[in-house]
Amino acid sequence: MNKETFERLTVDLGDRSYDILVGENLVANAGKLVQPFLKQKRTFIITDENVAKHHLATLENALSSEGIASKSLTLPYGEQTKSFSQLEKVIDFLLENKIDRKATIIAFGGGVIGDLAGFAAAVVMRGVDFIQIPTTLLSQVDSSVGGKTGINTSRGKNLVGSFHQPRIVLADIGLLQTLPHRELLAGYAEVVKYGLINDPAFFAWLEENGERVINGDLRAQTQAVVTSCKAKADIVALDERESGARGLLNLGHTFGHALEAEAKYNGSLLHGEAISIGMLMAHDISVELGFCASEDAQTVRSHFHKIGLPLETSFVSSNALGGKRLEVSRLMDHMSRDKKVNDGRLTFVMTKGIGQAYLDNAVDMTTVAEFLERAVTK
Ligand code: GLY
Repeated sequence: MNKETFERLTVDLGDRSYDILVGENLVANAGKLVQPFLKQKRTFIITDENVAKHHLATLENALSSEGIASKSLTLPYGEQTKSFSQLEKVIDFLLENKIDRKATIIAFGGGVIGDLAGFAAAVVMRGVDFIQIPTTLLSQVDSSVGGKTGINTSRGKNLVGSFHQPRIVLADIGLLQTLPHRELLAGYAEVVKYGLINDPAFFAWLEENGERVINGDLRAQTQAVVTSCKAKADIVALDERESGARGLLNLGHTFGHALEAEAKYNGSLLHGEAISIGMLMAHDISVELGFCASEDAQTVRSHFHKIGLPLETSFVSSNALGGKRLEVSRLMDHMSRDKKVNDGRLTFVMTKGIGQAYLDNAVDMTTVAEFLERAVTK
């Protein structure tokens, strides 16, 4: 077994603080790395069929070599797994196997598995510990950090859930080698988001090194994940429950979630792809409203184009709707159900330029509808 090498970051949340380890061979050494955080040597692994095929045996062996028992449940791959019915399946599995309050759940997968397993951990026996071992770029840089857990309902994404922080996050960069290129690209959208929010130097680094990140260069990937996790850890430490700054992490998400809802979560539009289009829309509307220079929006678009990220809503029409145009009224309807609605007003993440995102709850919805009308006909 190769020795692990990693960088350690901390999410500073008082007595619920935890570390994020970013590096190589972390799954193969998981037993040793997670052992200090277990109340008993008994774990429940929740994973999906793709991850299980490539990596489950490695994790199970790593745990058993340290005398840690594990039982695993493998679920279908895809966003549709983040549902009430699959949550029930997870809870039944845990209860049938007589989970007790000292056991630990290991979420071993991408954002879907992390959110679902984390939510199961938050509610089973009124809450047990859990560990995140994210296996996609997207989950390594975003969803595994910060304690947001939950499922989707027929009325929208992430509308049922809980804040439940993990005990430790192991982001094993080696796992990205088996990730399909489309998934790696989708995860890159969440990486570049941190540059666009408040770190223009990171955006400039990505302009230089982004292609290395998506072409599998381990050093570039490690640096991208470390920088992203550090940015996220800082924001979560400031505002765990999203009463302010954490809202910035939703750059591109209000538009993106509406696009995802139209695409019906069936794999035709990945979350990161929706966020890519949504972030460009956030820049475009900021330009139209006079907050952001059009050169900045153009620079962002050129970078996304060079990397191969989707740019326009026409990607959704052709990939998910059989060429049918998106309907603005339906998008507006999805947006009105967003969790970011407060007293009937939607908070948008707008931008004054690259690395200058800010929260704005004074955007007029008629203006948004007119903007969307132009966006869907591009
Ligand atoms: N993905 C946004 C957040 O964790 O707040």
